[in-house]
Amino acid sequence: MLEKLPEFIKEIDGSKALIVTDKGIRAAGHADRALSVLEKAGCEAVLFDGVQENPTNHCISNCRDFAQEAKIDVLIGLGGGSSMDTAKGCNFLLTNGGEMKDYHGYGKATRPMLPFIAIPTTSGTGSECQSYALVSDDETHVKMACGDSKALARVALLDPDLTASQPKRVASLTGLDALAHALETAVCIPRNPISKIHSLEAFRLLARSIHTVITGTSLPEDRSNMLLGAALAGLAIENSMLGAAHACANPLTAFFGVTHGHAVSLMLPHVIRFNREDPEVNEIYHAYESFIPSNGAKKVDMAEWVNTLVASAGLRSLSALGVESPDVGKLAAGASQQWTGRFNPRPVGQADFEALYSSALSDVVERV
Ligand SMILES: [Fe+2]
Repeated sequence: MLEKLPEFIKEIDGSKALIVTDKGIRAAGHADRALSVLEKAGCEAVLFDGVQENPTNHCISNCRDFAQEAKIDVLIGLGGGSSMDTAKGCNFLLTNGGEMKDYHGYGKATRPMLPFIAIPTTSGTGSECQSYALVSDDETHVKMACGDSKALARVALLDPDLTASQPKRVASLTGLDALAHALETAVCIPRNPISKIHSLEAFRLLARSIHTVITGTSLPEDRSNMLLGAALAGLAIENSMLGAAHACANPLTAFFGVTHGHAVSLMLPHVIRFNREDPEVNEIYHAYESFIPSNGAKKVDMAEWVNTLVASAGLRSLSALGVESPDVGKLAAGASQQWTGRFNPRPVGQADFEALYSSALSDVVERV
C-alpha cells in the first residue's frame, strides 16, 4: 500500500514532498522505505525526523524552517499523532505565517495551505482523518487544538504493514484510545447521522480485533481492522465530539504523567456507567454490546468488557499510579475545564468528576 504514495503525490500535482516523522519511525525503517518508494517513482522528497512527542510550537517552527529551506510543495505526516500534528502545524506556519497560538481554535488560516498526506503507523489517534493539530504550549504544556478545514489530509494512506512494528504496549494503548473515541462519539451530545455511521463501524472493527492486539496475537486482518477502525473513529470525532472520559484523562496526563490511552481507558468504564443513567444512551450501549465478541456467552456488559481489556493489557490502576483520595478535587477541577466534557451526554460538574475519579480509585490495584 505504501507503494501507492507516488500515485497520490502525482494526483495532487506535487513536485517535492517533505516527510515529517520521528527518529523511532526512522529506526523502524518506515521513513527510508517511503523515501525509496518515492525515489524509484521519480518523486523528489526530503525527510524531517525531528518530531517530538506532544509537539510544541518550537518543534513545529523547526519543521517549518526545514520545509522553507527545502522549498517543498507537499507535506507527508508519517507516524503517530505527533508526526501528523507536526506536519499539520508546519502547514499552518509555512503557508500562513505566525505562531501556533495564532491558530488556536478553528478556521483562523486565511491563506490556502499545502496538500497534506497522512500515513499513520499506529492505530489510535485518528489524526489522519481530522482537521485539528494538537500542539502543546512551549511553557505550560497545555494542549491547544488548532483546526482548519484546509488542514485536513487530502489522502489518508492506511497500510496495516506499517503498524506491525509497534511495541505491544503502544498498540494496546493506542487501540484502547481508538475504542474510547468510538464509544464517546457514539453517545456525545453532537452525535448525528454521519458521525453515528463512523462510530458504529469503528466500534465493530475495533471490538473484533482489539483483544488480539492486547495479547500480542494479532494477524494481518486484525491490524487492518484496528487501523481502519481508528481512522473511522477519527472521522466520527471530526463530525461530532468526545466526552467525559477524555475530559478526565487530560488532568491525569498533566498531573501524573499518565499516557493518554492509559488514562482514557482507566476512566472509560466509570464514564460508561455514569452515562448509562440516561435511557437513550443506555440503549446505544446496548446496541453496541451486540458487537462485542462473546464466545457464545450471554451478552457482555460494556463497562465490564473495557475493564477486562484494561486488565489483559496489564495497565496499572489509578492508585498504583500514585493517585490518592486528596488528589480527586484537583483532578476534578482540571477535568471541569476540559472542552470535551461539555459534550458528554449527561452534564458533568465538579461533584460528578470527583465521583468518577473516586470510583476509579476504588478499582482493584494491579488488575492483571
Ligand atoms: Fe483520545
